[in-house]
Amino acid sequence: MEVSELNKYGICDGISEIILTSGIENPNAAPIGVIRKDNRVFIRLYRGSTTYENVKLEKIFAANVTCDPVLFVKSSFSNLENENFRYYPLNTTKIPLLKNSASSVIFRCGEIKHTEQAMTAEIIPMDAVANDYRPRAINRGLTAVIEAAVHATRYELTGDNKFLDLIDQCMETTYKCGGQREKDAAEILLNEIYENKKRVDGGKSTE
Ligand SMILES: Cc1cc2nc3c(=O)[nH]c(=O)nc-3n(C[C@H](O)[C@H](O)[C@H](O)COP(=O)(O)O)c2cc1C
Repeated sequence: MEVSELNKYGICDGISEIILTSGIENPNAAPIGVIRKDNRVFIRLYRGSTTYENVKLEKIFAANVTCDPVLFVKSSFSNLENENFRYYPLNTTKIPLLKNSASSVIFRCGEIKHTEQAMTAEIIPMDAVANDYRPRAINRGLTAVIEAAVHATRYELTGDNKFLDLIDQCMETTYKCGGQREKDAAEILLNEIYENKKRVDGGKSTE
């Protein structure tokens, strides 16, 4: 499959936020940015995640294109329930895919470079399935809740309060412009942040 064909599946030039599914034995899902530049495609995975371990080991995964904010938020903090996965047979194995994605592209890793914090892999598209081509207008509530999820994963990593202010700003837009699905995702996200903050604050008071 040619890189130029990725347009048909919604992975265009720049960084596409997709849900990466990996793990042949134990399927896992997490939001990841797919970087497409000059006819080449890459992912950068930070150490410490299940996705990092799976891709390092298996060197094959699926990039699932979806606009569902609940799936993005849930998979940022924990794994999705088994009923969200389906399987794509490839040679003698089967690759987990997100069942309700608009499209899914199977990638294998080419050259991988490791640094102290992350690995960057050039990725090669192998095959793709398109499930749903319904158009969707840009909704600022959706983009804001995805932005908030990025800040939230950074907050979980660092405990830096500046991310809480950024999340608040995003939430204003989500509650103003989002539909019910965006508001449901916002609620899951705020609850996760609240639980995490309790853990951080609780940890501090016992030091
Ligand atoms: C929109 C979005 C994009 C993200 N992109 C990346 C990325 O490119 N690389 C990365 O390592 N983590 C990225 N993250 C953070 C991971 O999704 C997060 O660390 C997640 O908890 C990993 O889950 P896992 O342990 O199940 O793999 C992103 C998060 C969001 C919300």
